Amino acid sequence: MNDSSAPTAHLSHYPELAEHAQSWSHPIAADALAGKVILVTGAGAGLGAATAKTYASLGATVVLLGRTRSKLEAVNDWISEHTQTRPVIVPCDLEKLDVETAANLADSVTEAFGALDGIVHHASRLGPRAPLAHYPNDEWQRVMQTNVNAVFLLNHALFGAMDASKRACVVHTSSTVGRQGRAYWGAYAASKFALEGLSQVFADETEVAGRIKVFSVNPGGTRTAMRKAAYPLEDPQTLPTPEAHMELFVLLQQPMNSDGEAVEFVTGQQLDCRDWLGKVQIV
Ligand SMILES: NC(=O)c1ccc[n+]([C@@H]2O[C@H](COP(=O)([O-])OP(=O)(O)OC[C@H]3O[C@@H](n4cnc5c(N)ncnc54)[C@H](OP(=O)(O)O)[C@@H]3O)[C@@H](O)[C@H]2O)c1
Repeated sequence: MNDSSAPTAHLSHYPELAEHAQSWSHPIAADALAGKVILVTGAGAGLGAATAKTYASLGATVVLLGRTRSKLEAVNDWISEHTQTRPVIVPCDLEKLDVETAANLADSVTEAFGALDGIVHHASRLGPRAPLAHYPNDEWQRVMQTNVNAVFLLNHALFGAMDASKRACVVHTSSTVGRQGRAYWGAYAASKFALEGLSQVFADETEVAGRIKVFSVNPGGTRTAMRKAAYPLEDPQTLPTPEAHMELFVLLQQPMNSDGEAVEFVTGQQLDCRDWLGKVQIV
């Protein structure tokens, strides 16, 4: 890792990522995301924290949105210490997000940066594992508000800032149970189906203008607190870490590779990290 001629030497401050970046199928330049401003929700933990740290490590300015200020501050401190970028923290409980709060966030982003080059919607509420017949009404509302309504509100409020970008990218983090329903996954499954629909409609509406690319990504089982809550008896060591999925999350932001060429994905795709991991291993 300390060999400066190694292709991942610029990630030596982030060994959990560098380990996987060694086998990435595309050579990514150290400043591949420089100049981009990307909002990551759920940035205090799990996939959100890994995405924010990865993007910042490649030069992006990240806006860290999450519920728990101390977790955002920890990610902010890590990024400030290990990268050349300066993140922005937005403590925000998405359960309480309304039109006015979303508009204020959009105003702040526009004032600070002029344009927004991406949103990665990782924040999510798992809710209880229970049959629909016994599913608590209040939990249904809380999961839907966090996982669907807040995503719509953010996309809606930040549309102008993204439309001002030369190329913006919205990533909706979905789930296996958002593509095939499964007993006892209740509002979480329904919310991820809704997210898939939102993603497809948004992609279709923005395809012709071509400035905003929209995707849904299913990480599959990943070593995070949410997975532990859903499968408490599972050995976390059997699961990929969030960093194992970062090549896909990087490529969706259209980085410049080491040859100065940009990688592009067709908008509207439903992507699956497990498939992508397979592809990376084959290449
Ligand atoms: N891990 C998996 O196996 C797996 C599989 C399929 C899909 N996913 C999806 O991957 C995404 C990331 O999940 P993860 O596994 O990384 O889970 P995680 O480690 O539990 O992180 C979830 C994040 O969402 C934030 N959050 C929850 N409710 C919020 C609210 N009301 N307002 C603002 N932020 C809120 C949490 O903030 P706090 O920490 O402050 O509470 C946390 O940062 C989610 O969309 C999840 O559905 C994960």
